[in-house]
Amino acid sequence: MSLIMTTTTLKQQVFVHHVIEHQLPHNNRLITTQEYGIGQAPVNIALSKYWGKRDATLNLPMNSSVSISLPDLGTKTTICITSTQQDAIWLNNELLSNNHPFCIRLTAFLNFFRPPNSAFQVHTTNTVPTAAGLASSASGYAALVLALNDLFQWQLSTQKLSLLARLGSGSASRSLYSGFAIWHRGQQDNGLDSYAEPIDTQWPELCIGLIKINVQQKPISSTTGMQNTVNTCDLYQAWPQQAEKNMQTILEAIYINDFEKLGETVEHNALSMHATMMATWPPIVYWQPESLAAMQTVWLLRQQGILVYFTMDAGPNLKLLFPETEKPAIMQAFGDIQIIMPFNKN
Ligand code: DP6
Repeated sequence: MSLIMTTTTLKQQVFVHHVIEHQLPHNNRLITTQEYGIGQAPVNIALSKYWGKRDATLNLPMNSSVSISLPDLGTKTTICITSTQQDAIWLNNELLSNNHPFCIRLTAFLNFFRPPNSAFQVHTTNTVPTAAGLASSASGYAALVLALNDLFQWQLSTQKLSLLARLGSGSASRSLYSGFAIWHRGQQDNGLDSYAEPIDTQWPELCIGLIKINVQQKPISSTTGMQNTVNTCDLYQAWPQQAEKNMQTILEAIYINDFEKLGETVEHNALSMHATMMATWPPIVYWQPESLAAMQTVWLLRQQGILVYFTMDAGPNLKLLFPETEKPAIMQAFGDIQIIMPFNKN
């Protein structure tokens, strides 16, 4: 392994070693067999959320979570090795300065895989329209590990790639898959049993609506936000248990295509997570007045008999869940909405 790993901990290095080393009998993982590597991954929306880490260095979650990936929205990354002094990172065709927070985080992650005396050139493009408010570290780290796997020809299983993506950003573990995915909390301290897997079921009528409230940089990152919540929020004690329970209900709802059960649990789960954020000190409130207005519209629509529910992550934007039959009503209520059918590309 490289000596450049100044910002990584021994625990992280041991973890990476375990994930990659077993795959390669001749210990030749740093030999590049490709000129460059390419990776592409979708964004995912958590239906049952990850909020809080039991181990912050390895991104081990307090609870398991379930997500749905959005096809066509995500990240595409190309990577190659150069003999230059420093990494060069392009985001959406713009070369970033090395002290840009995005570069600092990415370079620290790349240090795990860096051959001696070398730097990486990375071109990463979000296929999410910037205005969608979905630009996400999840698709970013998933695409990056796929690109590294291609570059170094590791031929790792998707499960192992999920482990590596998790080290970059927890939610990235779920972005290796299309459709529904479950990220297992895991029990082990070494982090080797905390990976995501696909859930082998489809739901062609399921629609996801993206409501853009504000697409500016969020006031506090998920990483810091969840750490503060774990450290200062008394309500948080109840979260891991509720999250596991919600996840089981969501899994059942997915298997039997029970939309009401799914929607109710997803919305309850999201609002419970936001309640722990608000009860953190200093408080974390990602909502904007327009977020609440959109929630009220959803509740009003439900009173009128329309099946629609929402979820929200660490930002002010809402993601709606509804069956295809409700599409006309939703389009009428929310003019500016992008609708995605995860299992039906038309
Ligand atoms: C609210 O995966 O971005 O979107 O592991 O620190 O990178 P780090 O956090 P991140 O957190 C996502 C939080 C969430 C819920 C979810 O996606 O499950």
